[in-house]
Amino acid sequence: MSSAEPYAAVDLIRAKRDGGKLTDAQIDWLIAAYTRGLVHDEQMSAMAMAIYFRGLAGDELVRWTQAMIASGERMDFSALTRPTVDKHSTGGVGDKITLPLVPIVAACGAAVPQLSGRGLGHTGGTLDKLESIPGWRAHLSNHEMLAILQDVGGVICAAGSGLAPADRKLYALRDVTATVDSIPLIASSIMSKKIAEGTSALVLDVKTGSGAFMSDTANAVELARTMVRLGQDEGVRTRALVTAMDVPLGAAVGNALEVAESIEVLQGGGPADVVELTLILARHMLDLVGIEADPEGAIASGRAFDHWRRMIRAQGGDPDATLPRAPLVETMTATAAGVVTRTDALAIGRAAWRLGAGRATKDEAVSASAGIEVVVKPGDVVAAGQPLLRLHAEDPMRMAAARAILSDPGDAVVVSPPGTAYSRLPLVIDIID
Ligand code: URA
Repeated sequence: MSSAEPYAAVDLIRAKRDGGKLTDAQIDWLIAAYTRGLVHDEQMSAMAMAIYFRGLAGDELVRWTQAMIASGERMDFSALTRPTVDKHSTGGVGDKITLPLVPIVAACGAAVPQLSGRGLGHTGGTLDKLESIPGWRAHLSNHEMLAILQDVGGVICAAGSGLAPADRKLYALRDVTATVDSIPLIASSIMSKKIAEGTSALVLDVKTGSGAFMSDTANAVELARTMVRLGQDEGVRTRALVTAMDVPLGAAVGNALEVAESIEVLQGGGPADVVELTLILARHMLDLVGIEADPEGAIASGRAFDHWRRMIRAQGGDPDATLPRAPLVETMTATAAGVVTRTDALAIGRAAWRLGAGRATKDEAVSASAGIEVVVKPGDVVAAGQPLLRLHAEDPMRMAAARAILSDPGDAVVVSPPGTAYSRLPLVIDIID
């Protein structure tokens, strides 16, 4: 480090490690110097660990988030004639809600600039799902994004490298230093990207339950409150819903399988929980931007599906193309009659990942066709031999690995004697604004 620098990273790390507060100037310097490579990864890793244990005070967190936003460009959608509103989910198993939600809200008159990511670990990524559509491309220039938003009203694409670059570097570090699950670090990471994205309003879907990375509901509520405060401080109308992720959403887990299920929803069908959560989130998004429109009507009239087709076409995809199908499909069945008391999101997410639907490292390819159809939900009464899960894979070794995870008694899907009580989280647990 050059002696012309106003601070030494080691002093700031020590201050945070010992429970001190960083000043605005120290935070601004640290994030800018890290983005430029003056503060090294090992120093930022130590700072992330110090924050993991010591936290950030309210005003420190606001400044940290602002410094992350200032590390890159801030998008400007003021030229659009429609109000902008976006949704962010903290991620879960079978969470394909973005796919039907964006065209529904666009069909109701808002502009939805959805910058999405890829999946890592047991949760899927929206871009991976859409890439199972032949021809569809995730990377757009800012100019292309604006043109699609103005014309169609919705766009789902990859965030450009200019958006919150400090977060890009820091998130990669956190992933390998056991510092992902820190509320201030998660909140500043998510909100810096969403605020830099330039949306005027934002609905957050904070997941809780075994398949969420905030499995504990109290922590999920705390994360939701922290993010709502950060958004509102920056002038973004922000509301958070804390929702269930103890059970996979819908029946499909895996890229092409989830696209197919999203199309069913847009055509007026689809699993009840996916339809319900999509409509709830759509209503909150429209409410935040003052649009009085009926999202259910947008589905029934075919306008939402028409917007989906236009969105896919605008990004090079063929909405009429056949989606990839896995060559191997195996069914796991109930060994005895009874009631389903558990379909565990984490175990099913891990098994889908082993089948090839997800990646272990960020550069790994994913299989478009691999995944799991979860045929039952807790509370369903089943007969012996009735299907519980259908596993899709391209490779027999992966099929065997997934089976091993799913066959663990008492883990993924549990069928208990008839009459056994079961419990699951309500779909919407809390609303914070
Ligand atoms: N998603 C993000 O973008 N950042 C986090 O820290 C966690 C999830």
